Order: sequence, then C-alpha cells, then structure tokens
Amino acid sequence: MTAPDKHDPHTLNFSSAAVHAGNRGEESTGGVLTPLVLANSYNLPPDPTEVDWSDWRVPLYTRNSGFNQLSLQEKLAALEGAEDCVVFASGVGALYSVFFSFLNSGDHVIVSDNTYEATWRLFAELLPQKYNIEASFVDTSNLDEVKTALRPNTRLIVTETIANPTTRVSDVAALAAIAHDADALFAVDSTFTPPPTYRPLRDGADLVIHSLTKYINGHGDAMGGAVLGSADLIAELKSDPMVDLGATISPFNAWLISRGLVTLPLRMKQHQDSALQVAQFLSAHPSVAYVDYPGLPDHPGHKVASRQFDGFGGLMAFGLKGGHSAHNEFVSRLRLITSAVSLGHPETLIVHVGTDGPRVTYYPERYKELGHLRLAVGLEDPADLIADIAQALAK
Ligand SMILES: Cc1ncc(COP(=O)(O)O)c(C=O)c1O
Repeated sequence: MTAPDKHDPHTLNFSSAAVHAGNRGEESTGGVLTPLVLANSYNLPPDPTEVDWSDWRVPLYTRNSGFNQLSLQEKLAALEGAEDCVVFASGVGALYSVFFSFLNSGDHVIVSDNTYEATWRLFAELLPQKYNIEASFVDTSNLDEVKTALRPNTRLIVTETIANPTTRVSDVAALAAIAHDADALFAVDSTFTPPPTYRPLRDGADLVIHSLTKYINGHGDAMGGAVLGSADLIAELKSDPMVDLGATISPFNAWLISRGLVTLPLRMKQHQDSALQVAQFLSAHPSVAYVDYPGLPDHPGHKVASRQFDGFGGLMAFGLKGGHSAHNEFVSRLRLITSAVSLGHPETLIVHVGTDGPRVTYYPERYKELGHLRLAVGLEDPADLIADIAQALAK
C-alpha cells in the first residue's frame, strides 16, 4: 500500500484529497495555504520569444492561466479523477465552451429534454439559428429513444445526471456506450451530483461539466464553471474558448471555490441525509400531491440512482394539492426556508417554477397541471426544515 503523501493526490482518499489537492502554499512567506494572487500578468523570462504560450501550467496572463485557476483546476481534477480540468467564469460559460469547441455547422446533437434553462435555450434557439447546429430533445432515461434519435452526423450527446428541475435520472454508462458506438462524444452535466456522490468519467463520460456556483463552492458567494476529461479534450478547451472567448474565472472566485471544496464531502453527506428526510416527510403529507426525489423508492430513476450514485443529491421537486395560488401561499409562509434560485448553498432554497414555455412541455403532466416547487435542501438541521414545512402546510 502506498503511504499517503499530501503532494500526491493519487495516494489520498477522497476527503484527504479535498483538503490537500491543488494547495500550492505561499513560498515567499511560508504560508501553509494557497494565497490569493490578483495580479493579472506574470513576469516573463529574459527572452519572451521562448515562451510556450500553449503551456497552461505556467501563469502568464490570467485569461490563459493564473495562479488561483491552476490551483483550483488541480484540486477538481484530483477529486473528479480526471486527467485535466479547465475552469470558467460560470457553469453556463463551461457549457457553452464545450458546445463551441466540439460542434461545427451541420452537426447534430442529442440533448436531454429535461434540462437546465440555458442548455435548453442554446440548443432550442441560439445554436441552430446562428450556427446551423441541429438538436433533438429526447428523454435520456429512455435508451431506445436515444438510439432512435441518432443520425450519421450526431456528434454529441448531452445530459444531466439528475435533471434540473424534474430530477429525472440518466444511466451514464449506458448512454456512454450508445455515444461511443456512434462515434459521438458524451458530455454530462454533473452539477447535481458532484464528487464524492458521483464521478461520471469512471462510467465512460468523455466530458464532465459542473456549475461550481452550486455544491462545489457550497457557500452561495461565487460563480464558476468547470469541464473535466482527458488531457487531449481539455487542451482544446484551453486553447480555444478559454483564451479566445474569455469566460475567465476571477482569481478571487477561484480562490473562494478552492476554499469551499475542502468541505465538499462533509457538506454532500449532510445535504443528502437531510434531503432524504425532507422528501420522506413531504411524500407522507396529505397536502402534497407528488414528490420527485431519486432517493424515494417510487422514483422512476431510483434503481439507476442507487447503483450509480453514492447518495441521491439534495434537490427535489414537489407539487401541492390546491393549484398555483396554494404554491405561492405555502412559500410565503415559510420562515426558515428562503425563496430564491440556485442550489448547493448552506441555506435551503425554494423556487415556485412557472408552468409555461416550450421547455415545460417536456415535463411530466402533473407539473403542468398542479405546478411545482424546486427545493434545494441546505445545511440547516433537518428537524428545523421539516418543522418549517409542516407549519407552512398546516395553514
Ligand atoms: C444543472 C445546471 N447546469 C448549469 C447551470 C449553470 O450554472 P451557472 O449559474 O454557474 O452559470 C445550472 C444553474 O442553475 C444548473 O442547475
């Protein structure tokens, strides 16, 4: 057995790697932790013509790479088990960079029909209209539907591990096999299931995308995005979108996210334990019409989720008996849970999501008939969360 060494994340278990990977220390003062380096330009060697501008390991200019980006990329790669990682200013910046780099005019893409708003809009409107990229929206939990949608020019399959907001679960290993048989790339947005809950590369995904804004930062105070995969694929993202589209993460956000990552395994355990308790409480309540949480045995993706993930994430969708106004009334009576978008924050967040628009046409019927609430369970005591929900429902 190799002895654990904090300088070699391969020798470390997950929580040790979350603490130590990517930590560069502070040479000039002997500080133990990676400092925040705000300088956006770095000293060049005596003969700058010798600089290899495509060597992203050396900080030269923050849009190519900076000290804090490098540290964050190293930590994320170690935790996701990836050869390499590139970070961006937001999750959407990361998504767009993947689509920009790996798709060309005339290509076809298969996209999950339950997906985050920006992914939806990019494939429903912007990429087809501007770049002649065609997309088929399919239920990626139905493998036959995915196979039927394949075309000779299918270049990419994109899905979320657990879909935002319906919590539909996709079988990553099965989708990877379909993509690779068709010579297509397979990209997975794993924002709802960061490591240690899941590492999609192990199941054959080519690219893993995260909104770092959510669980990975975990404190609701910074935005970021990341893409992880083989060194070859990530090199394409570094040479084109990172440098030439400019969705660069700020050093401060990279530093904050590295700091947040240290407690990711502890936080994910708490988010997931509490979410299961809240989902069980909701599903037994007479005022609740439905609860979609992959940890509940009656969820259609429960079997795949149990095999694929370590835990079931912290997100659920549910609807109340009583229609649109009942949902608003319920939210207005909450005293601990906050009405706001986002997820993976310390505070529990709830959103009453609208039931109009083309994206919603793909949601299950009950969402459209009854309305739905997206609940992102935070780090408060689950007994307090359940008491808050109970008092708001009782009224
Ligand atoms: C699944 C998923 N992917 C991507 C994003 C976009 O991330 P960001 O807000 O950091 O751009 C979100 C945001 O909610 C999301 O839920």
